[in-house]
Amino acid sequence: MTDLAAFLQQHREQHTIAAALTDTVATIAAACTDISAKVRLGALSGVLGAAGTGNIQGEEQKKLDVIANNILIDKLKLNSAVAGLASEEEDGFVACHEDGRYLVLFDPLDGSSNIDVNISIGTIFSVLEKPSGRLQTEHFLQAGKQQVAAGYVLYGPQTLLVLTFKHGVHLFTLNADNVFVYQNTSPQILEHTAEFAINMSNQRHWEAPVQQYIAELLAGETGVRGKNYNMRWVASMVAEVHRILMRGGVFLYPKDARDPNKPGKLRLMYEANPLALVVEQAGGAAHNGHQNMLDIQPTGLHQRVAVMLGSRAETEYLQKLHG
Ligand code: AHG
Ligand code: MN
Ligand code: MN
Ligand code: MN
Repeated sequence: MTDLAAFLQQHREQHTIAAALTDTVATIAAACTDISAKVRLGALSGVLGAAGTGNIQGEEQKKLDVIANNILIDKLKLNSAVAGLASEEEDGFVACHEDGRYLVLFDPLDGSSNIDVNISIGTIFSVLEKPSGRLQTEHFLQAGKQQVAAGYVLYGPQTLLVLTFKHGVHLFTLNADNVFVYQNTSPQILEHTAEFAINMSNQRHWEAPVQQYIAELLAGETGVRGKNYNMRWVASMVAEVHRILMRGGVFLYPKDARDPNKPGKLRLMYEANPLALVVEQAGGAAHNGHQNMLDIQPTGLHQRVAVMLGSRAETEYLQKLHG
């Protein structure tokens, strides 16, 4: 059995990764182990229901959004490699250690609408190197390709850790002793798929290329795509991405015409970039219709973005439809 600690040591030696970076990821994993323990107990650990507060995204916070956020912040603050944090649930960045080398960005709890109904949720994280100088918001605004590590923990039937240091994607299962055990597999996203994920209830608000794309998929084997497609929508992006990692598929959360100032629902820094890095490292692709996700130059911590990711044949076709 290889546990996370042994894997990190071996991976660090093999790819000359700084110990401070693998330690930072180990701290994130430890925080997620604590979150997982609370998730497992649900009502018994008092984590269900609304917090009665709102976040900067304009969303109502669930108790677990706040609890998971605090667990991550408390643990990461104890790690001297961490210079600062940014979270979906925090208005601005949180400064940690002046001499820290890394910035950690996270969606502490992805899939908030699923907490109270016992459907898979997760934590998504991204690690950047801190530029020199006094910590400021601009330090966090690095394109996704600058990430040095990223991944997620999925609180599903099993608690799984999926991570990348840009040397492939690695999968771990949390065992009964709260240890992440390495699963010696290298998930690869199938190039072709017949499965898509989109919130169809927003159809009337989509732009023309997405309207056309979904219409073509729905047309089935007699349409231009020449095959029947199936649909899935969990409403936890982290679970959709994990499904796509394991058996292929394409996920879309496109731009929504209701609010011209919002180029999508999902957050570039906490959701789209880390998951795009995992997807790319597993042979898939991610873009916003026009630009590769990891090339987008962020302009704000809480910036939203249209997301299309997954199997290459589909993501490339989508990019072609966007012109
Ligand atoms: P969060 O719970 O972190 O706010 O993110 C929820 C996101 C994402 O996980 C999911 O794909 C999407 O919102 C679900 O949106 P719908 O409610 O439109 O299905
Ligand atoms: Mn939210
Ligand atoms: Mn989320
Ligand atoms: Mn969230």
